[in-house]
Amino acid sequence: MRAPTMVELPAVHRRVIAAWGAPIMVVHGVGYDLTALPVIVAMHRGHLVGAVTYRIDAGRMELASMNAFQPRRGIGTALLGAVVRTARHRGADLVWCTTTNDNLDALRFYQRRGFRLVGIRPGAVDQSRRRRPEIPTVGAYGIAIRDELDLALELRSP
Ligand SMILES: CC(C)(COP(=O)(O)OP(=O)(O)OC[C@H]1O[C@@H](n2cnc3c(N)ncnc32)[C@H](O)[C@@H]1OP(=O)(O)O)[C@@H](O)C(=O)NCCC(=O)NCCS
Repeated sequence: MRAPTMVELPAVHRRVIAAWGAPIMVVHGVGYDLTALPVIVAMHRGHLVGAVTYRIDAGRMELASMNAFQPRRGIGTALLGAVVRTARHRGADLVWCTTTNDNLDALRFYQRRGFRLVGIRPGAVDQSRRRRPEIPTVGAYGIAIRDELDLALELRSP
């Protein structure tokens, strides 16, 4: 778990953009350029297997994107460990992220690891889609993508 080298960065960005369909991630009404954010990568035998992009503001670390390119192999858990270490190192006392109502895997993943649901914005994705029609209407498990949910993990002293 580490920051990518300058040489690796273009390939990391390509992979993250491919996973999300665009370099810009619109969450809670804000468009994040994923290629402009700091990244933590998970590598296995020289191959990129996971990546998380984030920003730290006012003692809070927000995850803009988190991807395990091979699911259910422990990559997400390892990335989250690196996220928490980075947050602590940078003096943040909270890690949070936004996901959508269809993303049951992420809702499960984060809650199993101590995150609490701290916010819901009904219709937020519908609203973003008016500006960006390329946002899909149907997501995981055939569920219509409409709402945003915020999850947060408070970091206690180690
Ligand atoms: C959400 C996400 C990051 C989780 O990553 P992941 O690598 O699948 O997570 P893990 O493998 O660490 O954990 C998932 C489950 O698989 C289990 N698992 C891990 N390794 C395993 C193995 N070798 N065999 C079987 N199960 C395993 C874990 O125990 C865990 O189950 P638990 O929650 O009951 O403990 C991943 O699903 C993902 O990239 N989703 C798409 C993008 C996304 O939605 N991101 C989040 C919103 S930004």
